[in-house]
Amino acid sequence: MRVFDIITKKKRGGELMTEEIKFVVDGFTHGSIPPEQMSALLMAIWFRGMTSAETVDLTTAMLKSGETVDLSEIPGKKVDKHSTGGVGDKTTLVLAPMVASCGGTVAKMSGRGLGHTGGTIDKLEAIPGFRTEMTMAEFISTVKNHGLAVVGQSAELAPADKKMYALRDVTSTVDSIPLIASSVMSKKLASGVDAIVLDVTMGSGAFMKDIKSAVALADTMVEIGEATGRRTTALITDMDEPLGREVGNASEVREAVEVLNGGGPSDLREVAVALAGEMLYVSGGASIEDCRAMAAQSLDDGSALKKFREMVAAQGGDVSYIDDTSKLPTAKYHVGVVAREDGYLTSVNAEKIGLASMALGAGRAKVGDAIDLAAGITMMKKVGDFVKKGEPYVMLHTNDQTRFKDAQIILQDAFRGGDKAPTSHSKVLARLEKDKLEKLV
Ligand code: URA
Repeated sequence: MRVFDIITKKKRGGELMTEEIKFVVDGFTHGSIPPEQMSALLMAIWFRGMTSAETVDLTTAMLKSGETVDLSEIPGKKVDKHSTGGVGDKTTLVLAPMVASCGGTVAKMSGRGLGHTGGTIDKLEAIPGFRTEMTMAEFISTVKNHGLAVVGQSAELAPADKKMYALRDVTSTVDSIPLIASSVMSKKLASGVDAIVLDVTMGSGAFMKDIKSAVALADTMVEIGEATGRRTTALITDMDEPLGREVGNASEVREAVEVLNGGGPSDLREVAVALAGEMLYVSGGASIEDCRAMAAQSLDDGSALKKFREMVAAQGGDVSYIDDTSKLPTAKYHVGVVAREDGYLTSVNAEKIGLASMALGAGRAKVGDAIDLAAGITMMKKVGDFVKKGEPYVMLHTNDQTRFKDAQIILQDAFRGGDKAPTSHSKVLARLEKDKLEKLV
């Protein structure tokens, strides 16, 4: 087999065979296929796309490039949720304990933040003592004893994805549906869970900017999950403005605890209930309506909060920071951005909010950068709110005053206002399961 012929075949729109895909993924992972040839193939895939069979083969080859986790020792169906990326997305912190408190089993591997999107692992590390690195034996015993654990993803899972993603990042080939789908699903399948819920975000803060491409991505990932024997559903959720009011790390934990206490911003609660409902649904047993009702109940009766405290304690965290979230890190400096005239907030560019939060120190531009757990942004106003002249609609927080300038430059045209309030709609735009698409908005 020659890589040159495989590139040519894809360039001309041909369908690659299982063996050809495996040959390329193995060769690139182990260094016998150079980055220039892999780059050419990735670009050919970007232009020509992939059939369902090719995408499943690519996912399988990437999955098999490294270790796979064996969770069979844990009884019951292990479920995980994956988001394709968002700003202010702290849903994992809320829904993992919701699902576990309703009897689900959540074995969750999460990532760190990169670029404009935050990461669950960084957020959890705002709780003093919380351990996001565990041995596999510790991870398994925590899930067995408490019904949940959230840890950082091990580098050994799907190493082909790590190498391919780095190459996609510098060759403008990230935004390809088969490449995103295989990247996400190879890691999820390697993490050993039995059922998967996908949160495919759509809007200014997401990879997918319109409903058509979001549905296509969700559909591809559901198909891969089902083809590899995992019950999989997907929700398409609105990421046109940050989820909730807080963007940062410690501040997002604070807001997640508000929701676990039965309060918090309604959009965050809505998305968390919908996703937790899906996780209970794919775990088996009840109807989707009953699963959603159970999930909502766990917030209202305090059982999800109780489970979150249990998880924090089990992973070494100091629960007094959950009981009194004002103890979590707060920034030294705060600057508000005020409205120049009266009007409704009609749109927010979520990506710019994420980038500005990163500029304040809350995120990292490259893997390994240090972050300021207290830095971030508070959305004092959400889309649809009325703002009076002189009133702050957004508040910036940092421990390094020199960072305000860059953040303010990024935010310059992140907001739009108008005389009329935009029509409000549900944050859950569509739902997909095998052979079934429901548009909800
Ligand atoms: N998230 C991933 O893990 N991979 C992609 O390609 C895009 C988003």
